[in-house]
Amino acid sequence: MQSFVFYTPTEIVFGKGEEEKTGQLVRKHGGNKVFIVYGGGSVIKSGLMKKITDRLEAENTQYIMFGGVQPNPLLSHAREGVKSAVEFGADFILAVGGGSVIDTAKAIAHGTKNPDIDIWKFWKREIELTQSLPVGVVLTISAAGSETSNSAVLTNAETGEKRGLGTDFNRPRFAVMNPELTYSVPKFQVACGIADIMMHTIDRYFAQQTGENEFTDAVAESLLRNVIKNGPVVLREPANYDAVSEVMWCGSVTHNGMTGLGRPMDFSVHQLGHELSGRFDVPHGASLSTMWGSWAQYVRNINPTRFAKYAKNIWDVCENDTETAANAGIAKTVEFFKSIGMPTCFTELGIGVQSDKVIDEMADSCVFHGKRLVGNFKPLDKNDVVNIYKLANR
Ligand code: NZQ
Ligand code: ZN
Repeated sequence: MQSFVFYTPTEIVFGKGEEEKTGQLVRKHGGNKVFIVYGGGSVIKSGLMKKITDRLEAENTQYIMFGGVQPNPLLSHAREGVKSAVEFGADFILAVGGGSVIDTAKAIAHGTKNPDIDIWKFWKREIELTQSLPVGVVLTISAAGSETSNSAVLTNAETGEKRGLGTDFNRPRFAVMNPELTYSVPKFQVACGIADIMMHTIDRYFAQQTGENEFTDAVAESLLRNVIKNGPVVLREPANYDAVSEVMWCGSVTHNGMTGLGRPMDFSVHQLGHELSGRFDVPHGASLSTMWGSWAQYVRNINPTRFAKYAKNIWDVCENDTETAANAGIAKTVEFFKSIGMPTCFTELGIGVQSDKVIDEMADSCVFHGKRLVGNFKPLDKNDVVNIYKLANR
């Protein structure tokens, strides 16, 4: 097992009606002037925002609201948020929504605390982030895991780049997680969430092997089996509290670091998917299910034994032959994605078959124009990325 630091400081408040505690939680974590970030309006329509502002008022907390965050959230919108939050004098950023809202809130927190620096410089690693404002979360969709993660992902529409920033300043102070708040999530978004939750663990499970890592593997395998079991239940019965709770909790644990401790992170499929979202504005979870089968097919010979273990422990594949088992595990994963309505190639994703030129441009951007290799299970150069995109280009 590799040495690691496990830092997950977020106070998780999980259960029915727990959003009623938002006012107290904001106070507890130092908020007096609260900048509330939300998305396209689902939280206004559901009445959740009113409940939260009532709780803030009960605590005599000042607040203003900033809506309009869109899925694949934009850098330009986050910059507008920074401007408003600075004018307001915000000392706390509260996200009410999903990954896109939370990531925008994180960006606004960084920008407000560093008003003289353009936030994109943090994402481009041109300036190191050394301070930020506290962020709290009321989660409304189980998917990105941003409510406990150290990451925030923004899209720069001018350059077509979708980039993540990993820093402990991205860890929210608290996350309110009431499974009931997710009952109204549209079915397709639920499925995207299931794919994303699975991929946060799979992208860690298939990483450079640094020796045995039994406990971490067991946690990862248990989480995947749980989501594969309960995800389809949630799709059939969106108000099944127990199944929804399982998926919601897995959605956080899968991305707080726990399922990959003791080995490096790979995250190749995320990087491949981000190019698709940056260019075609496709939903994140759908970009991942589109790429995983092609990535797996391309890299399986690096460590077929690992793929066979995955097949046996996740999908109950009982083939003795390693190659056959590895292939069966890949096929079962792809079948599962299809069964929940997720795409597994470019045409299913709705972007059509792409030209060699587009694939070349996406691959070039994915490897940061030759400045990096992607992942570590098999470190991918541009040629590898081109080949993987070509496998999905049907
Ligand atoms: O905007 P509203 O009106 O709220 O509607 C949203 C949006 O249209 C809707 N929705 C959310 N909760 C709802 C609801 N509709 C009805 N009832 C509810 N309770 O769902 C749609 C999708 O929302 P979004 O926030 O985009 O979804 P998700 O949580 O999947 O977030 C995706 C974003 O997170 C990034 C992705 O790349 C993508 O940009 N990620 C962030 C990560 C992180 N920070 O750790 C890690 C992930 O790998 C991911 O990259
Ligand atoms: Zn993800």
